[in-house]
Amino acid sequence: MKAHIVTLPGDGVGSEVTAAAVAVLQDVAEHYGHHFAFEQHAIGGGAIDACGEPLPAATLAACQRADAVLLGAVGGPKWSDPNAPVRPEQGLLALRAALGVYANLRPLQVHPALANLSPLKNQKLKDVDVLFVRELTGGAYFGAKTRSADAATDECKYTVTEIERVVRRAFELARGRRRQLTSVDKANVLETSRLWRSTVQRVAADYPDVTVEHQLVDSMAMLLLTQPSRYDVVVTENLFGDILTDEAAALAGSLGLLPSASLGDPSTSASPTLRTGTRGLYEPIHGSAPDIAGQGVANPVGAILSAALLLRHSLGLEEEAQAVEAAVQEVLEHGPRSRDLGGSAGTAAVRDAVLVALEQHASIHHAFFAGVRACG
Ligand code: NAD
Ligand code: IPM
Ligand code: MN
Repeated sequence: MKAHIVTLPGDGVGSEVTAAAVAVLQDVAEHYGHHFAFEQHAIGGGAIDACGEPLPAATLAACQRADAVLLGAVGGPKWSDPNAPVRPEQGLLALRAALGVYANLRPLQVHPALANLSPLKNQKLKDVDVLFVRELTGGAYFGAKTRSADAATDECKYTVTEIERVVRRAFELARGRRRQLTSVDKANVLETSRLWRSTVQRVAADYPDVTVEHQLVDSMAMLLLTQPSRYDVVVTENLFGDILTDEAAALAGSLGLLPSASLGDPSTSASPTLRTGTRGLYEPIHGSAPDIAGQGVANPVGAILSAALLLRHSLGLEEEAQAVEAAVQEVLEHGPRSRDLGGSAGTAAVRDAVLVALEQHASIHHAFFAGVRACG
């Protein structure tokens, strides 16, 4: 298949991990007979430096034409003055809103070989397999803001439409998994959470085959550490999802491991060639990691697994997505490992090990199809 992928490396380690993910996608294209065209654009702090705005019009237009967008990270100390008129993160938020990618899927699995890196006891990490579905284009992130000399406000607003579409997506995803949905809110205090909860209760009637529970976010933060294997799909609003998923990354062993896919309604793509019809934005959940940026030591696994999600959700290439995931699993098990995982390998060494493992999967694929042709 042909696909047009826009890359937005962004700031700090963003460019380092995105380059590794692109190398993996190029390898997939070569081994499985696809043609992926890449187009790189500026976003975040680098874009502010170059043209004064964090989401230049040319970047947004390219993303709107693309089949999928792969992003590294934005932000950093250079642009973090609390009085700065514009920040890199605004570019990312504007992009998410403009693409309408309201459902942010953040899968969490704990690789047994990494369980020792987690602060939790190993036995608690057995069978941890959670899919967080974070609402991404509403809530306090996008409400009106005010600032005076001695006060500031961030409005947190949700409409039923905004809640219902992400909740329905979470129910659908639960149907493809263990059919358990946990909705996380703060309905004992927040009006937006009470609207959230009643919307979940109403929508649940359409999914009688899915078990639903409601959990307040403060106790959820605790339960995620004490009983992580209890959860299947967890749906929550924007800010709670941001915080809970960084917490979840600690269970996996490093923030550098977790990928994400941000999706809107199906058929949002400009391309008639896409099998899924879903244009998506794909990014690791970590940030620009200023403390290690420029050293070539960032863990590229979150970015590479985000590329696997791109293959699955936007390009409909399930076999290829699984091959990338299996290659990553092999590298996590046998090494080399980056510093955050207790190893000493740099970004490029981890990338190269994933490419070698991927080639083995691709040759199994070719041997199988050669066999099919010979028999047919
Ligand atoms: P961060 O995720 O950048 O870093 C937190 C810690 O995790 C650091 O110690 C860092 O070294 C480590 N880490 C992160 N990614 C890693 C990787 N791939 N390999 C190894 N270690 C890794 O969070 P922060 O320091 O709170 O934020 C820094 C900047 O990043 C801020 O400007 C923030 O707004 C931005 N940010 C951007 C995104 C994004 O673009 N999607 C996400 C989160 C934070
Ligand atoms: C993330 C990041 C972003 C968020 C920031 C950089 C705007 O933390 O993708 O998790 O809060 O959504
Ligand atoms: Mn975050």
